[in-house]
Amino acid sequence: MSVERSTPANGKIHVLFVCLGNICRSPTAEAVFRRAVQLRKLDRHFEIDSAGTGAWHAGEPPDARAQLEARKNGITMKGMFARQVEPHDYARFHYILAMDNTNLRDMLQECPEEHRPKVYRFTDFAPHLGVEAVPDPYYGGPNGFEHVFHICEEGANGLLDTIIREHGLQG
Ligand code: 4NP
Repeated sequence: MSVERSTPANGKIHVLFVCLGNICRSPTAEAVFRRAVQLRKLDRHFEIDSAGTGAWHAGEPPDARAQLEARKNGITMKGMFARQVEPHDYARFHYILAMDNTNLRDMLQECPEEHRPKVYRFTDFAPHLGVEAVPDPYYGGPNGFEHVFHICEEGANGLLDTIIREHGLQG
């Protein structure tokens, strides 16, 4: 099926970032993308959210290490809480970004066929990095969170450039 490329009827473009737990990578990507949108004064065009393919951490705030890395970069994650991907997310969101290949595979398995073209690998929007995933930092040290933040910044900017181009957005 073709993907809806015109600006949706309610004028908002819905963007969802997805990882496993929704406490490390996808909330970081959500927060970084939100800031990029605000910096370009495009807030009114977007609904931005994140979710996890798993439910283990549902209701929890982002991991303290992810919050620390965000704060170091001037971003607060206050008010964010984890949730699991829900079946209706595939219809509701226009861009669904998987943080790694497992997240991508898991979503493509449960996503109705007509919505599959909206499911992307996040790092494909930062091809210059030469990475095929945002690595899971959960069991690693703080450097993992720095690395995640950097990949999220590059991916968020690449994604926003793409959406601006595809929808002809202006700030
Ligand atoms: P995330 O990281 O998918 O980036 O939120 C993880 C968080 C929790 C677990 C794994 C990854 N866990 O196994 O509980």
